[in-house]
Amino acid sequence: MNFITLLGRQPELSLAELEQRFGSSNVESFGRVAALVSAAEFDIQTLGGTVKAGRVIAELEKADWPRLSRDIVGRYARELKGDGKVTVGISVYGRDVAPRDVQRTGIALKQALKKQGRSMRLIPNEASALSTATSHHNKLGLSQNKIELLVFYGPGSVIVAESTGTQNITALAARDQGRPKRDAFVGMLPPKLALMMINLSGITNQNHTHDANDSTILDPFCGTGVVLQEAALLGFNVYGSDLSEKMVDYTQQNLQWLGAKHAIGDVRVELGDAIEHGWNLPISAVVAETYLGQPFSAPPAPDKLDKVRRIVDHITSKFLENLAQQLPSGTPLCLAVPAWRDSRGSFTHLTTIKKIESLGYEWQPLKTANTHNLIYYREDQVVARQLLLLTKK
Ligand SMILES: C[S@@+](CC[C@H](N)C(=O)[O-])C[C@H]1O[C@@H](n2cnc3c(N)ncnc32)[C@H](O)[C@@H]1O
Repeated sequence: MNFITLLGRQPELSLAELEQRFGSSNVESFGRVAALVSAAEFDIQTLGGTVKAGRVIAELEKADWPRLSRDIVGRYARELKGDGKVTVGISVYGRDVAPRDVQRTGIALKQALKKQGRSMRLIPNEASALSTATSHHNKLGLSQNKIELLVFYGPGSVIVAESTGTQNITALAARDQGRPKRDAFVGMLPPKLALMMINLSGITNQNHTHDANDSTILDPFCGTGVVLQEAALLGFNVYGSDLSEKMVDYTQQNLQWLGAKHAIGDVRVELGDAIEHGWNLPISAVVAETYLGQPFSAPPAPDKLDKVRRIVDHITSKFLENLAQQLPSGTPLCLAVPAWRDSRGSFTHLTTIKKIESLGYEWQPLKTANTHNLIYYREDQVVARQLLLLTKK
């Protein structure tokens, strides 16, 4: 089965997530904003970096919109034979088609359906593509009578797909803002990024034999527990530790809150300094946003940055050394460590990254991205997160 996905704000990270999840032979980029995925099933809610997804229904020769539009209406009106009112939205990616021209396609489809005796509600286009919020709030792709046609212009052809759903931004926001304990100082890992990190580690790879219910994800810097929350929702048993008693308590409370609303597996949270703590095995994967150093709202002076980097380097390398002595060979990891962005957009990296191999880890190779350069950031952020995809040697 072939799916096409609309990638998130940082397409290279979204693509790497898909590659780790579905295997590199099953994922291919399609233009700059999309990817083709070959999989038996595709549940967008288990991915952090995919914004929309659809089942491929046709691959057409590249043509201007009016011609393509006639072709789509001709083919698709037949597909939509059936009863009851149908709601349809149309989104075009990879080419700037005027919203009113997309709208015309919708109107033509509506007329064709009317001739077949079926009525259709058309979602208005304010841009060539419907926003995630519009698609989500109209529940497009979630039932047979709420449809979104996704049209992707790629380098050599055009793919038409029927949406199977949009990222559930309401549920993500509720998990982020609704949980009882939040802490602006330890940082706010967005749930989307936490979900991406779990998939990026490789633990959810469809070719692995891991059964989530029998697997445990460890976060040794669990903070308020965002990674563990997302891991628990994917069905994993979760295990967290943190240096701060307050954070251990926050994670416990947040997971209790989650457990009251969803069926989740085992939860274990304990106090521990990651530099020397001994964790209980078995651990199937380690996913963590490690200590990021102090927050900065503007790029720090070089000597200040140097000082902070040294401290973070010390903690990170000692932690990695300690963990390597405990993990079985082959355990996958995804760690978010800081990289500091200056005003010209260049990054200062941890020096520990250069010693990863001597600390007992291997880089996980990627087909779609450079595994040494996966950085999650927003334009206004000084402290970016570099994602390290590793395997214990
Ligand atoms: C960037 S925050 C992680 C935030 C977390 N992702 C969340 O969801 O809230 C880093 C966490 O590491 C903890 N920490 C710092 N140094 C530590 C150490 N040596 N061992 C264990 N935890 C540590 C801090 O207390 C903080 O909660």
